[in-house]
Amino acid sequence: MAPNLLLSLVTIFISSIFAQPRAFQYPQDLFSFTDFIIPTSSPTSSTSVSPTPPFPETPPLVPAFFVIGDSSVDCGTNNFLATLARADRLPYGRDFDTQLPTGRFCNGRVPVDFLALRLGLPFVPSYLGQRGNVEDMIHGVNYASAGAGIIFSSGSELGQHISFTQQIQQFTDTYQQFILSMGEHHATDLITNSVFYLSIGINDYIHYYLRNVSNVQNLFLPWSFNKLLASTIILEIKNLYSINVRKMVVMGLAPIGCSPHYLWEYRSKNGECIESINNLVREFNFLMRFMIEELGQELPDSNIIFCDVYEGSMDIIKNHQLYGFNVTSDACCGLGKYRGWIMCVSPEMACNNASNHIWWDQFHPTAEVNAILADNVWNGLHTKMCYPMNLKDMVVSKEK
Ligand SMILES: *[C@@H]1O[C@H](CO)[C@@H](O)[C@H](O)[C@H]1NC(C)=O
Ligand SMILES: *[C@@H]1O[C@H](CO)[C@@H](O)[C@H](O)[C@H]1NC(C)=O
Ligand SMILES: *[C@@H]1O[C@H](CO)[C@@H](O)[C@H](O)[C@H]1NC(C)=O
Repeated sequence: MAPNLLLSLVTIFISSIFAQPRAFQYPQDLFSFTDFIIPTSSPTSSTSVSPTPPFPETPPLVPAFFVIGDSSVDCGTNNFLATLARADRLPYGRDFDTQLPTGRFCNGRVPVDFLALRLGLPFVPSYLGQRGNVEDMIHGVNYASAGAGIIFSSGSELGQHISFTQQIQQFTDTYQQFILSMGEHHATDLITNSVFYLSIGINDYIHYYLRNVSNVQNLFLPWSFNKLLASTIILEIKNLYSINVRKMVVMGLAPIGCSPHYLWEYRSKNGECIESINNLVREFNFLMRFMIEELGQELPDSNIIFCDVYEGSMDIIKNHQLYGFNVTSDACCGLGKYRGWIMCVSPEMACNNASNHIWWDQFHPTAEVNAILADNVWNGLHTKMCYPMNLKDMVVSKEK
């Protein structure tokens, strides 16, 4: 059983490396920072078509929504890359609006889908999944790539990804395109009024610190590692600010100490969360919240909020019955104890109905959890998660 699965993993990886390159032309400097370039596969037809967006809930509150991050918000970037971290086959996406895989690491929607609708916008397309026309990007773009971390090499053992700095580079390319097409004044106006969502950092633990890559645990105590990560994010936020981004949502890190993978790896008894891992994440969030608050005072006219997804997630785990979740430690899809050993790669590995599960696969929550977290970001519906204000207060209260 297990060797077969490992074999199929390897096969997926190899086939994604050697399949035909697709027709889509990458922007020239897309891979200017990457140290290895592998021709990538063409996505299957089901993933190359962007889903018909459901009708937004309100008239647009902001012109556009831009997303930078990792698999927590990737909506199709990695379909175009040679990597093990791809969610372009079932059972991924089986509960999505189209009931098809899209590249989202979830059974359904990820938080930014729910938030786009709240902002009165359609689902925003992944940067690599659209045609590169300004009309496709005018409501926003999602640059997030599964496996990406704040540190450049985090996650590189999985294969290709678009790193944090590359994603920001891609955003500046988009901005340039806007300027060329609508003029500098309008483009800047659009960027200044749009919301920017950052959700990155967990892979610096999963694929770097906790794996003790390059002896990092000896070189950095958790506190200094956290300071390194947080100050890198702050630096990039300042860069974004310098190119007129003003409204930003910075997401904290999720309690991966409760994720099925670590419950399996650390041999949790009765599904108890791995406190040593959660402590790292909590400390990062604490630091990040503090630094974002300081930054908000430093940068005039900025609207930067920090949303502590750890708090929201722990509320769901603790009060799971109130939310209708009765499976709290097992993933819906995967193999091994807690279904946390082997990653989800086929429909046979999945439970029948994910809606009573907190975890979809070994690292990612279900769409049901994402909906609750998005509500918290929007208006703190279930738990106050965002500081100093919720997203709704940021975009609705300020009359232009
Ligand atoms: C991390 O790796 C180094 C060697 O690469 C080793 O000496 C050290 O003990 C490891 N640290 C931990 C905490 O496992
Ligand atoms: C969760 O509830 C469903 C039905 O609501 C039931 O079929 C399932 O056995 C329950 N699972 C656990 C672990 O309690
Ligand atoms: C899963 O279960 C929920 C409630 O238990 C139900 O509303 C939903 O329709 C089910 N979904 C599927 C795909 O069967």
